[in-house]
Order: sequence, then C-alpha cells, then structure tokens
Amino acid sequence: MAQPIDLADPDRSLIAGNWKMNLLHAEAVALATAVAAWSAPVAAAGVDLLLCPPAPFLASAIGAVAGGAVAVGGQDCHAKASGAHTGDVAAPMLASLGCRAVIVGHSERRRDHRETDPFVRAKVETAIAAGLVAVLCVGETLEERDAGQTAQVVTRQLRAALVEAATDANLVVAYEPVWAIGTGRTPAPGDVVAAHAALRGILAARGPASRARILYGGSVTAQNARSLLALPEVAGALVGGASLKAAEFRAIAETAAALRRQPA
Ligand code: 13P
Repeated sequence: MAQPIDLADPDRSLIAGNWKMNLLHAEAVALATAVAAWSAPVAAAGVDLLLCPPAPFLASAIGAVAGGAVAVGGQDCHAKASGAHTGDVAAPMLASLGCRAVIVGHSERRRDHRETDPFVRAKVETAIAAGLVAVLCVGETLEERDAGQTAQVVTRQLRAALVEAATDANLVVAYEPVWAIGTGRTPAPGDVVAAHAALRGILAARGPASRARILYGGSVTAQNARSLLALPEVAGALVGGASLKAAEFRAIAETAAALRRQPA
C-alpha cells in the first residue's frame, strides 16, 4: 500500500490540483479515485500529489484516495481557529479530517472576498498552527505586470504573510500571475524565473523557510508542463482547470516525475 504524502519534504516536487468551485459529489469521488490509482509511481519518483476539492467533498475525497500516495487539502481557511463565522471553514477542522494542507491567499479569494495581506497572514498563521502546510498564493495583476511591478507585488505579498512559524516543511509558495489564471496565457519563461528568484530571495533571508518550495500556477496544461516545470526554482505546479481532467492532471504529474528521473 502506498504511503499517504505528508508534504513536508522541500526536496520533493509538488503537483497540486485546485478544483475550485467545480464538480458534484460523485464526480469528485471519481476524480480522487482516479488520481489515487496512478499515484504510487509518481510519488516514488519524488513528486508529492495534493488535491484540493471543494469543502463539502473533502471527507469523501480523503476516503477515495486512501491507499494511494495522495494528500488532500482545503481551498481556504478562516483566519481564526474557531468562532462565529457562518459558512467559513477553520484550519483545525481541516486537520481533524485528515487534510494535510490548505491554499491561502488565492487571487480569487483576494478578489471575491476582498482578502487583504494582513488577513492572509493570519490565515497562514492559523493553518500552520493547526499542523497544515500553508500553500500561499501570490501574483500580480495584468496592470501591475504592465507597470513592471511584478517582483515588487509578489515580494510584498510574501513578506506580509511570512510568519515566524513558517518553515521549509510547512510553507509552500505558489506564484500565480492573476492574468494567467484560466486564460490560457502563461508568462514568458524568463518572467517566471525572475518572479521565482525574487520570491526565493525573500525566503532565503528567512532561515527556517529558506528552502520552501515555490510552485508556478496559471494555465498549466499537459502541453506546457514540461517547459514550466523545467525552469529553475519551479518546484511544481498549482493546477486549476487541467486538474479537473484525470488524464491531463496525470500527464502533468508524470511530466514532473519524468523530469526528476531525467532533469532537463
Ligand atoms: P488554471 O490552471 O485554471 O489557470 O488555474 C490556476 C489556479 O488558479 C490554481 O490555483
């Protein structure tokens, strides 16, 4: 039986699927089951797999991946550990269910729910305190990119959320240019490298999280996965739309595994 992934080793690659607000229950179970079925050789090659289904499907997804080498995480958590916050999900709830991680600061949350840098910081704090890996999303808008502010924006977002308790084992950063999400557009390789290098500069100055993984996210597909995953400092991908298709997500994960066996 494959070992469930604990996501704590910064030397492993990480391919994460953010299902966002998609799928119905039976579809979610079928997708998690399909991923678990091919997960073992990918994990054995050094690639962590993480699925982030909608909150109502988390328990079923955890059941569906049992026996596979797949971690399950939430798409968001509240900044507080419990309390009167109708409709929200608390990090300790996710941990108590068997989740390993939670996405925080996704640009869709920042946009739809007006989440600020300090609020995102509090989420990172709460997630880590609950024993989860915080997958912190940062990324610039098209306007900011066109103004040449990418490095400035993403390093501000990271600095704001880089809590004292963050380490290589409990923090993952995802660079997701807002304009690349769901658009089919991706940055030029040099722009990904520059953003990741800027983020690494911030992490490197903070001892315990200096080696935390930095993922790329935004229109990752089976077609472009190799060119993106082969870039320096790209430790994996946070995949949206393509993670909803079992075969395409598999192709992305297997590309990551192949790159580990035979570096580009
Ligand atoms: P897409 O892969 O659909 O562009 O979404 C990326 C994303 O936002 C993952 O969190």
